[in-house]
Parts: sequence; structure tokens; C-alpha cells
Amino acid sequence: MKPANVRRLSGMLALAGLATLAGALLPPQGDVRAQQAKAPDLAPLPEAKFNKDQAELGRFLFFDVRLSGDAALSCSTCHDPRKGWTDGQALGKGYPASEYFRNTPTILNAAFKARFMWDGRLDGSDVGTLVRDMITEAHTMNMDSRLMQERLKQVPEYVAMWGKFRKDDINGMRVYGVVGEFVKSVVSRNVPIDRFLKGDQSALSSEAKEGYALFKGKANCVSCHNGPLGSDGKLHRTGVPENPEVWNTPLRAITMLRHYSTSGMPNYMNARTDVGSYAITKDERDIGKFATPSLRDLKYTAPYMHNGMFKTLPEVVEFYGKGGGAGGELKPLNLSESEKRALVAFLESLSGDPVVVEVPKLPEYKARTFGKN
Ligand code: HEC
Ligand code: HEC
Repeated sequence: MKPANVRRLSGMLALAGLATLAGALLPPQGDVRAQQAKAPDLAPLPEAKFNKDQAELGRFLFFDVRLSGDAALSCSTCHDPRKGWTDGQALGKGYPASEYFRNTPTILNAAFKARFMWDGRLDGSDVGTLVRDMITEAHTMNMDSRLMQERLKQVPEYVAMWGKFRKDDINGMRVYGVVGEFVKSVVSRNVPIDRFLKGDQSALSSEAKEGYALFKGKANCVSCHNGPLGSDGKLHRTGVPENPEVWNTPLRAITMLRHYSTSGMPNYMNARTDVGSYAITKDERDIGKFATPSLRDLKYTAPYMHNGMFKTLPEVVEFYGKGGGAGGELKPLNLSESEKRALVAFLESLSGDPVVVEVPKLPEYKARTFGKN
């Protein structure tokens, strides 16, 4: 690295300790989030709203490998319902000949997120754009929207399902929203914390109740983890250690650098670490910041954090107990062993019954002409 770059990077690290102004640079957040900022606490999950006919076609498409360029993978390859709608790995897979540099998040409750992606780069109110990214990005499904459209038009069952909500032919751009309606339908079920928040005192064990008190009190997790998802939807630096597998696996490092390059991050060829939201905002105060994730259904979504560095919830609580990692915003919590166990018991009460859907039997191609464009 040239001396000028060394100076620049150390400047960035010094700035990284300063106050946070990140929120202003990313998409605006909805009313729900504004309300939860006033009185930080957890809240019951709202009812899911989605278009049933679109979600039904979306369910088929979610499992259909024909939505990826070389028909190698579907959404469900990486967001597998049997693995909490993740891939169960620390770091994500990718389209053949690529691998990802972050953990694959669950799609559970995505409908209620303020922002998508670990670095918060996409607006949570726009699921269609998120789905478009997943389908068209070279490292996920590498699909061209026109090719997808022509493929789907030659599956008569899909044409019939499309006809239930639209009069025109299947349209590539609209398919994103249709898959999005299915994503919105995938929500937690029968969660102890929701029953408790609605007044059922018996829904939490006494240990979990003690954990909740710590969560809101001594440990103050609630300052960032609040609202229906246990997320303020904002960017924070907790100092989770780097996962060495990212830089040590060239295919992962390549995807990371490609992400930096596409985002227009200055001086990206000198980056060896996951800079988080900085790549998006280019604000040096955002180096190492990530969007606060949901705390729901953690039972099914290990390993944890943007890079899967923690395998279990006790490991996560241990990390917070020590005041997080280097350069983060957190302070040591001085938790006793029984307090740590109580926090873990509480985190477990934020998981509901497993959410599984019927895996559809996919209909086959049957080429025919439509007589119009
Ligand atoms: C090759 C693996 C892979 C495939 C295929 C894939 N995803 Fe993802 N998905 C990811 C990864 C990795 C992320 C997180 C990326 C990041 O944060 O940088 C993600 C993020 C998401 C998110 C945002 C979750 C959050 O909490 O921010 C949703 C929703 C989602 N994907 C849905 C889908 C849908 C729908 C499809 C199919 C159209 C799909 N994904 C296909 C790996 C994949
Ligand atoms: C300053 C804000 C902040 C505070 C306070 C905070 N967290 Fe977090 N939490 C985050 C952020 C940001 C992440 C994601 C970090 C990353 O991936 O690098 C996270 C991640 C997590 C995860 C992993 C979720 C997943 O799906 O991978 C768990 C579990 C968690 N926090 C629990 C807690 C608990 C328990 C406390 C209190 C002891 C706490 N957090 C306090 C911001 C915070």
C-alpha cells in the first residue's frame, strides 16, 4: 500500500469512532419505525399483507431453477425452508463459479424490514427491487429478465396462474413483484414473545422473563433491537471480527471487490475487509457498520452475524458481554453466568414454530405460439 493510502485508511479508522449520521443517507423509513424510535421496546408482529394469487405463483417461482441463468439454482437453494430459509452456512454460496462474502439471511418476516441486505443498501418497502437484484445479479442467479419472461411463457400452468391476476402476458419486470408477494407471505408463526406481548404471562418462562428485563435494562439490547422485528432498521458498528475465510477464498474476495467496484467505493482495491455500509454511503463514519438484523426465529438461522462468525446464541451473548469487538459502539456489560443464560433463554422465546411451505411440483415447458407480442 502506498503511504498516501496508509494515511487515508488510518484517517478513516479514526473517523470511524465518531458520531453516527448514517441514517440520512439511506432510504427513508416508514411510520412504524418512526413510532418505535420514540418508545424503544419489542412489539408483536403485524399481520402479513400480500396478494394471494400472486403469492401462489410466487411460491412456484421461488423453487424453480429456471429463474436462474443456467438453471443451476433457485431462491430456495440459498433460502431453504428446512434451514430457516437460509443455507445454514457461515458464508453464502453463489451462482456457479462464484461464492458470496456474507452470510445468507433468512427471508422470514422480510416484509417488515426497514432495509434489506446486511449493509442496508436496499429499501425495505420495495421487495420487487430486492427480488430483481437476486435474480439478475451475476453472483446470485445471473438471469436476464427477457429470457426469464420467455421461459415462463412456455409453461402453460404459469400462464394460467398469471391470468388470475393480470390480463396481459407474463412480463419479466412484473415477475419480480410476484415473487415478492410470496416473500411477504413467509412470516413467523406462533411465537412465545408475541403471545406474551399480547398479555399471556405464561408464554415466557421465568428465566426468559428475567432475560427480557436484562434485554431492556442492564444489557440495553433494546436500544438497537426494538419494534416488531427487534430491529431499529439503522446502521451500527458492533465490531464483529472479520471472517478470514472471505479473503482466503479468492472466489469470495472477488465477489466482495466486485461489489465495492459496482458501488463506486473509492480506493477499493486496497480493501481487504468487509467495510459494511461504507461501500454504499462512502461516508467514512460508516466503515464497519451493518443494519441491525431481526432477532426473530434465530433458533433456525445459525450461524449469526453478517459473516457467520458466531455459531450459537451463547457465543453471541458472550460477545456482547465483553462489550463487542474492537472499534465498536458497545461497552462491557458485566453479566453473570446466570444473566447470560437468561438472555439466551429470552432470545430463544423470539422463535416460533418452524415455517415450512409445501414444495411445489414444478410444471414442465410446453412450447407454443401466442399470436401476439
Ligand atoms: C446464491 C444464493 C442466493 C440466491 C439464489 C438468492 N439469494 Fe436472497 N440473499 C442471498 C444473500 C447472500 C443475501 C444477503 C446479501 C447481502 O446482505 O449482501 C440475500 C438477501 C435476500 C433478502 C434480504 C433479507 C434481509 O434480511 O435483508 C431476501 C428477501 C432475499 N434474499 C430473497 C431472495 C429471493 C426471493 C430469491 C430468488 C429470486 C433469492 N433471494 C435468491 C443469497 C441468495
Ligand atoms: C449498538 C446497537 C446494538 C446493540 C446495543 C445490540 N445489538 Fe445485536 N446487533 C446489532 C447489529 C448492527 C448486528 C449485526 C452485526 C453484524 O452482522 O456484524 C447485531 C446482531 C445481533 C445478533 C445476530 C442476529 C443474526 O441474525 O445474525 C444477535 C443474536 C444480537 N445482535 C443480539 C443482541 C443482544 C442479545 C444484545 C444485548 C446484549 C444486542 N444484540 C445489542 C446491533 C446492536
